[in-house]
Amino acid sequence: MFTTAFLDLAPLEEAGGTVVLPGSKSISNRVLLLAALSGGTTVVHDLLDSDDTRVMLDALRALGCSVVHREAAVEITGIGGRPHPNPPPEGEGAPSPSPAGGGPGWGRSARLFLGNAGTAMRPLTAALALMGGEFEMSGVARMHERPIGDLVDALRRLGCRIDYLGNEGYPPLKIHPATALQLDAPIPVRGDVSSQFLTALLMALPLVATTQDVVIEVVGDLISKPYIEITLNMLQRFGIAVKRDGWQRFTIPAGSRYRSPGEIHIEADASSASYFVALGALAATTDPLRIEGVGAGSIQGDIRFVDAARQMGATVTSGANWLEVTRGAWPLRAIDLDCNHIPDAAMTLAVMALFADGPSTLRNIASWRVKETDRLAAMATELRKLGAQVEEGADFLRVTPPTNWRAASIHTYDDHRMAMCFALAAFNPAGVRVRIEDPRCVGKTFPDYFETLFSVSRTSTPHVPVICVDGPTASGKGTLASEVARRLGYHYLDSGALYRIAGLAATRAGLALDVAHEHTIARMAEALDIVFTEGRVLLHGQDVTEAIRTEEAGMNASRVSALPAVRSALVALQQGFRRLPGLVADGRDMGTVIFPDAPLKVYLTASAAQRAERRHKQLISKGISATLPGLRADLEARDARDSNRAVAPLKPAGDALLLDNSGQTVEESVAQVLRWWEEKRSFS
Ligand code: DC
Repeated sequence: MFTTAFLDLAPLEEAGGTVVLPGSKSISNRVLLLAALSGGTTVVHDLLDSDDTRVMLDALRALGCSVVHREAAVEITGIGGRPHPNPPPEGEGAPSPSPAGGGPGWGRSARLFLGNAGTAMRPLTAALALMGGEFEMSGVARMHERPIGDLVDALRRLGCRIDYLGNEGYPPLKIHPATALQLDAPIPVRGDVSSQFLTALLMALPLVATTQDVVIEVVGDLISKPYIEITLNMLQRFGIAVKRDGWQRFTIPAGSRYRSPGEIHIEADASSASYFVALGALAATTDPLRIEGVGAGSIQGDIRFVDAARQMGATVTSGANWLEVTRGAWPLRAIDLDCNHIPDAAMTLAVMALFADGPSTLRNIASWRVKETDRLAAMATELRKLGAQVEEGADFLRVTPPTNWRAASIHTYDDHRMAMCFALAAFNPAGVRVRIEDPRCVGKTFPDYFETLFSVSRTSTPHVPVICVDGPTASGKGTLASEVARRLGYHYLDSGALYRIAGLAATRAGLALDVAHEHTIARMAEALDIVFTEGRVLLHGQDVTEAIRTEEAGMNASRVSALPAVRSALVALQQGFRRLPGLVADGRDMGTVIFPDAPLKVYLTASAAQRAERRHKQLISKGISATLPGLRADLEARDARDSNRAVAPLKPAGDALLLDNSGQTVEESVAQVLRWWEEKRSFS
């Protein structure tokens, strides 16, 4: 997952290959709650691992459920599905045993933090209000701006006791044990603000449908019906057969009882699939884009995004749990569509509209205003930054594609879908750059979204940004370059390590490091099997991290690096590190030989005295003894060899920016390089 302040996307050109998508958020959180309400253990396969499911799991644990991660599955042991209608007498506060036997009971009181997960907040509110107990429910600031009043009204009418701790109608909430429940009359709930209110009641009311049918009546039109379908489907899997009369009346039959299916598989998230369906429509020009885990057999409403994408020109074939997409019509065809049935995936259409042959209108999307952010306003603002003309209505959006694309830094409003759909703008035909601010927000539903996107996206090499940091030994290149890479979310190449490894391999093979063995060492260097992983370096599977860091290994690296054939042998390997989203490379000839077209080259210097002192501190801290004069003499000898060799001698590239860091802290040099980088990428 990218946890950087922003992620710069190079202009992207083509897409193709296979992605396996993470589990559905909506199904995951419904299954978790239903498993918790059931007796016995439910083994959940392919559960989404993201912010929203994590807060649900934490809540269930806090309530006394057992949650065990076993290999790829999660085992939830629930409470056996019977509420405690009255608080226990003093001294009997411990959870009651599960009627199913063996399972844990609900905690009698808990404070739950639910982040920004509507799929946790709403259903848990209903379940806990009916369960009995003292509970406090809160979330992030935005969660406290997302309405819950209609659900609370419905629950209060039943006899539940819920207080608002902040603003009327919004979390945080305090839940007290219910008084006598009124279940005779139909329970009215509004359906036109969020379908999650109805979902919450449907999932919680089986708890109390013991001796009589419980009826829910939807007031006003019901939005997002496909999500209710998911709810009903999941309830069915857990033994609750809800009777539905149209979309107005739902009956939970008397004697309903949650029964764990034992094992359950979560299908991949259809909303997450929308980005890759769109990607195929935009850029799968040679190979198809194959999506695995969700397909035509999906129970998720957002699978119907596929129809909308087809309408815009995508060519899509499908099986029960896969989709294959290629570009069809190009430019895409503009659409005018009622999107009420695909509220989340419709955001992806708004970005696809940038690539259409005329203005597109997305209608009936007022619910966007109460999601992770006011998505109508956010979408309009950010699309305009890219050069689109946008009309924002109360419940619609009209997007006219840009005539002049502009590079843009996209604000993401802590909304995963803003980040995910706007990443597709990187495929713009003008080749302008797109920056995604706060990319970590995708963690809500798809932590590895950008990695997955890059794995199936291609662009010509010159588009992949490289920052070179060259300089003499012990100038602090490695520290500077790896930190810059970390801040930008780019890959990092320590080219010196490659020469150190080549030197080590040659020495271990008993070769003298001289011209007589130049070609043998070069062939060896070409065949090196090197893996950089989590700060370790593996050579042919063996950990050589420490072995290549000694002073002797540095000197040997300097010797082999003076052999032209060895240098040539390592060129392709080094250039192979230039991958999306970008690279920071440090060495001696990054800017002069390996990446001569790099948009930013830094040449780092520091006085020999300074460098010797830094190296001295480094060695002493590792418990290795060394003397200052000795180190300085070594440094100067290496400088001399590296600078005077015939090929790729150490020298600044003509277009390098010089940075003397003798008097700077690491943070100061990092800030300087990041400033230079910013100056090269201005956004409107
Ligand atoms: O950066 P370092 O100290 O790990 O590099 C070890 C030696 O490798 C250095 O003395 C010269 C050589 N080298 C090189 O010639 N070209 C590079 N790009 C990187 C290192």
